[in-house]
Amino acid sequence: TRTIKPLVAGNWKMNGLKADLAIATAVAKGADAPLRQAVDLAICPPATLLFTLTASLIGSRIATGGQDCSAYASGAYTGEVSAPMLVDAGATYVIVGHSERRTLHGESNAQVKAKAEAALAEGLTPIVCVGETKDEREAGKALAVVKKQLRGSVPDGATAASLVVAYEPVWAIGTGLTPTAADVAEMHEAIRAELGRILGKATAAGVRLLYGGSVKPGNAAELMNVANVDGALVGGASLKAEDFLAIARACA
Ligand code: G3P
Repeated sequence: TRTIKPLVAGNWKMNGLKADLAIATAVAKGADAPLRQAVDLAICPPATLLFTLTASLIGSRIATGGQDCSAYASGAYTGEVSAPMLVDAGATYVIVGHSERRTLHGESNAQVKAKAEAALAEGLTPIVCVGETKDEREAGKALAVVKKQLRGSVPDGATAASLVVAYEPVWAIGTGLTPTAADVAEMHEAIRAELGRILGKATAAGVRLLYGGSVKPGNAAELMNVANVDGALVGGASLKAEDFLAIARACA
């Protein structure tokens, strides 16, 4: 039995046109009352769809989120989306520090932390992503790398309810590869312990720790039953309503 209500969040990444709003509608339709009671659901579409998608989910109790936010509230930052804008569009969550942002946009731990704090300041719940590369795991450095990312990117002032951490091993993202249940257990236990040192034990005990990286209906039950795994951050499989729902059911 779980003490923390799990969260299953879909990260659509740079996928989704108006026609794909139907995916969210299908998720809402398929998420029956017992499932919604057992699991919190969220969809993080591209920014262009956020307002419309959120509006389409009114009454479904399915939350929405952004995929990134600026560390600043407004100003001369061409191309950026701020936390107040995400709130205005109806978001509850925002993913920060996704490995694709860290790698392709060179985001540092300090920048991720500033973004997470900007989110918290607006009442958004940041989903702070961490995870090691294949080389780092093979060198036996996975735990050390993730702990360092946590120390650098967990926002000050977070409470258990206002923070989500997602462990996404970079080598598992979009590859079909997943760590063993034992490796996930070891990492999530280490993440909980490190959060205890950063935020205090009582707060850390309630923070939701998601696993992300090639979560599919076929492996969800095994991954979601690992200790300290409080849900999933789902990429590719979140673009198919049936797959996303099957993953959510594996958490219930
Ligand atoms: O944020 C979720 C993501 O990085 C995992 O992607 O496609 O491996 O589920 P995927």
